[in-house]
This record gives sequence, C-alpha cells and structure tokens, in this order.
Amino acid sequence: MKPPANATEKERLLWLEIDENKIPEHVAIIMDGNGRWAKKRGLSRIKGHKAGAKAIENALDSALHLGVKVITVYAFSTENWIRPEYEVSVLMTLLFQFLKLQKKKLMDKDIKLSIIGDRSKLPLFVNREIDRVLDETRENKSLIFNIALNYGGRADILNAVKNLIEAGIKPDDLNEKLFSSYLYTKDLPDPDLLIRTSGEIRVSNFLLWQIAYSELYFTDILWPDFDTIEMLKAILEYQKRERRFGGTGGI
Ligand code: IPE
Ligand code: IPE
Ligand code: MG
Repeated sequence: MKPPANATEKERLLWLEIDENKIPEHVAIIMDGNGRWAKKRGLSRIKGHKAGAKAIENALDSALHLGVKVITVYAFSTENWIRPEYEVSVLMTLLFQFLKLQKKKLMDKDIKLSIIGDRSKLPLFVNREIDRVLDETRENKSLIFNIALNYGGRADILNAVKNLIEAGIKPDDLNEKLFSSYLYTKDLPDPDLLIRTSGEIRVSNFLLWQIAYSELYFTDILWPDFDTIEMLKAILEYQKRERRFGGTGGI
C-alpha cells in the first residue's frame, strides 16, 4: 500500500508491505496499560490516561489511511466503576475533553462517532458532549469511530435478551441475525481483528458475542506507546492469518 506523505522511513517500509486487498473492515481494540505506562515513568495514572488519549488519535489516522471502515475502542468497562472515585471522574473529564477537542478533526477527516454501552450511568456533561458530536458527525462516511463506554459483553447480551422479551419475540422466530440486531453493535459488522495491548491475554468482558470469529492479536506494548508502527505490525500479522470460519481452508 502507498504510504501517507508524512510517514517516517521505518513506517514507509511497513506501509509498503500492507496488502490493500486484505484490510480488516472492523478493528476492535482493548486499550490497556495506561497505568503501567505512567508507573514506569514515575507519573500519576492520570498522566497515563492522558497519553492514552493521544494514542487514539494516532490509531484513527492509521485506520483512515488503511481504509478500515470501523474502529472500536474499549474506553470504559462496566467493571471500571470499581476504580477509585477520583480516577473514574478524571476518566470522564478526559473523555469530555477528548470529544470536545476532536470534534473539528472528526469533521475534517470525515469520521463518524458511534457509542456502544449503557450511557444512562455517564455524567450529564459527558452525555451532552457525546450527543453534540454524534449529531455533528452523523453524515460522515470515511470511518466509524466507535467508543465502548460503560460497556460489558455480558451486559450487552443481557440487555438484548430483555429487549427481545419486551418486544414479544417468539422463541421459534429468534435466530442469530435477529439476536445481533438487538445488541449495541446492531449497525456494525463483527470485528475482523481484536487487538489487546499491555501483555494481558484476556478479553475482559469485551464484545463477547461479536468476537466469535475475530482474529486475536496480543502485544506487550502499553497503550500509550501503540503508534503507527505497532498498528501496522498488527495489520501485517492479521494479513498472515488464514480465516476458516469452521471450514477446511481448501486443504
Ligand atoms: C486502560 O489502562 C484504560 C482503562 C481501563 C480506562 P489501565 O488504566 O487499565 O492501565 P493498567 O492496566 O493499570 O496499566
Ligand atoms: C479493560 O481493561 C477495559 C478497558 C480497556 C476499558 P482493564 O484494565 O479494566 O481490564 P482487566 O481488569 O485488567 O481485566
Ligand atoms: Mg488495565
């Protein structure tokens, strides 16, 4: 693939290796390791989250140039509320600031915001900003930037079941396609590639239904260090995988 004009020499070599016919349509990321990144530098966890926010912008730019259609980032899980109150409140404020700051950039880059998760528990000032950016970017077409907020895979499934029952769906009428249409991700394809940073080999309640056939990629890199080079490495690894979906792969 042709590298972007501002690529460094090291990035250029990786861009040239990318097969533009094998780009994942949906990349999902568990952005983990902000706290450890900060600790390594003798900084507060908050500084780690700030550095993590910058890495998101980088990931969006790489995704845009790659031609990825959807990028989902796990920003706050249903379990993250058990963190100290101060950290939770800073995370919410950082999210607000990030959205406010990104609004113009998302418009310039033709990126559409999307949110999955239970928004009812988020602070009002965050929800207001989310609504503004959702509204402003709704017609954008180049990339969907999907943020998982107060999201849990189990909560997603449970919420779908509740709504199915409420809608009076009969057991015989229920199938996987219909079920999927009751999940938060109803308008999105399943992830082709799931990336987790920071060396933890687990999914931590992320997109449980949707990752049934996703390719999984784990790296020791801490999220704030996940730059263009790391993204390209993940995509190159994905391009080496043979996806079979239960078939024989022609063997
Ligand atoms: C990921 O970084 C960000 C969120 C969960 C919000 P962590 O805060 O989990 O960082 P570590 O895992 O403690 O290093
Ligand atoms: C997963 O990271 C959640 C997000 C990245 C938002 P955690 O740091 O919360 O996950 P665990 O606790 O290590 O499994
Ligand atoms: Mg963590």
